[in-house]
Amino acid sequence: MRLTLTFLTLVLASFESAYALPRAYQRPSRRSSVDVLDDVLVFDAPAFDDPANPENTLVQLQGYVATREISIQSLLSGISTLLNQTLGLDISQDLATATSRLALFGTIPLSGKTITANVNGCGNAVTLPPLTALSSTDSRNINFTMFPSSADGFGVISDIDDTVKVSHTLDKLQLAQATLIDTPVPVTGMPDVYASLSKSLESPQFIYVSASPFQLYPFLRDFIDTTYSASSGPIMLNNLTTTSLSSIIDFAQDNGIEAYKSAMIDRIQGMYPGKKFLTVGDSTQKDPETYGEAIRKYGDFIACAWIRKVDGANNTDERFAEAFAGVSPSKYKLYTDDEIPGLANIDVAGGSCS
Ligand SMILES: *[C@@H]1O[C@H](CO)[C@@H](O)[C@H](O)[C@H]1NC(C)=O
Ligand SMILES: *[C@@H]1O[C@H](CO)[C@@H](O)[C@H](O)[C@H]1NC(C)=O
Ligand SMILES: *[C@@H]1O[C@H](CO)[C@@H](O)[C@H](O)[C@H]1NC(C)=O
Ligand SMILES: *[C@@H]1O[C@H](CO)[C@@H](O)[C@H](O)[C@H]1NC(C)=O
Repeated sequence: MRLTLTFLTLVLASFESAYALPRAYQRPSRRSSVDVLDDVLVFDAPAFDDPANPENTLVQLQGYVATREISIQSLLSGISTLLNQTLGLDISQDLATATSRLALFGTIPLSGKTITANVNGCGNAVTLPPLTALSSTDSRNINFTMFPSSADGFGVISDIDDTVKVSHTLDKLQLAQATLIDTPVPVTGMPDVYASLSKSLESPQFIYVSASPFQLYPFLRDFIDTTYSASSGPIMLNNLTTTSLSSIIDFAQDNGIEAYKSAMIDRIQGMYPGKKFLTVGDSTQKDPETYGEAIRKYGDFIACAWIRKVDGANNTDERFAEAFAGVSPSKYKLYTDDEIPGLANIDVAGGSCS
């Protein structure tokens, strides 16, 4: 098996509107390589058989290049004031945690950068040392993990906020607190359910798709890697291209979430057209609508959709009927928290969904 790296051009965010953020975004005049002073984050990546040439393995790499943060302090004081004024939340006792969670918001993204990735050990797709060298003069190693998975078998597409992690998406104050301050906690029982799926579906490719901004990647990755270690996988996050201080805490209210998640499912389908996916989400945002649409569009590519009914969300019959219109009731399951332990007993591999 040969490994080919594609998509080496880094995907970069531009902060078009830098309202209330400390610094402006810098646009280089043309493509340039990464400077030794730039910070580079390369996201964990799925690796998959090239549908056009199955003996090749493709990896889609995405990264973020920014100049190193200069003044996280002014960002912090801005957000502290905003949180205090709009939500009555006082983060002054938790500045260290908030500082680390907000760190990437305090960097200046650079567009048009390219890196060269040298992957050692191309002969073995499973134990690739995850190292990249930036350029001939910059030998920093950037760690990221590749998740190779076969073209067939199962996968799991999972939402994060309020599906696997308690985020209080419906309550801005609690959401801000859970995102900036609290130690993240899993939705009770879900780590066991995913560990069990990891066995029953024979090491499915787990892919976490969240509408959270990519600036929260280090925080979310750490959570998934530790709390969901039996079901770790790449995390796809939203591209927050314009931001203001308030958008940092308003991301969960964005109306573009359904379109974004549908686009990520399209992308996953392009990588793994021969797999079957279990999709797991919740009723706070648009997961029922997104997954219903994916089943109508892709049929058996989506084996099954599970939706957690979150208290306070729109859990009416009419909503789910509309979201899953035209979808067989045998293809989806709505579950309450007391049903979570039972999810592990569902024979998804054998074609059951509930
Ligand atoms: C993210 O936004 C930047 C700037 O608008 C754009 O160039 C890039 O293609 C976007 N990436 C994705 C994955 O949508
Ligand atoms: C938050 O606002 C209150 C008044 O509304 C003020 O007493 C308090 O000191 C402020 N806290 C911070 C951290 O700004
Ligand atoms: C990258 O991984 C190597 C080997 O596991 C480790 O020695 C190194 O400290 C890591 N670097 C970073 C920046 O995490
Ligand atoms: C719940 O969703 C349905 C279907 O979209 C909608 O008609 C209804 O107004 C919603 N109810 C509430 C309370 O938002």
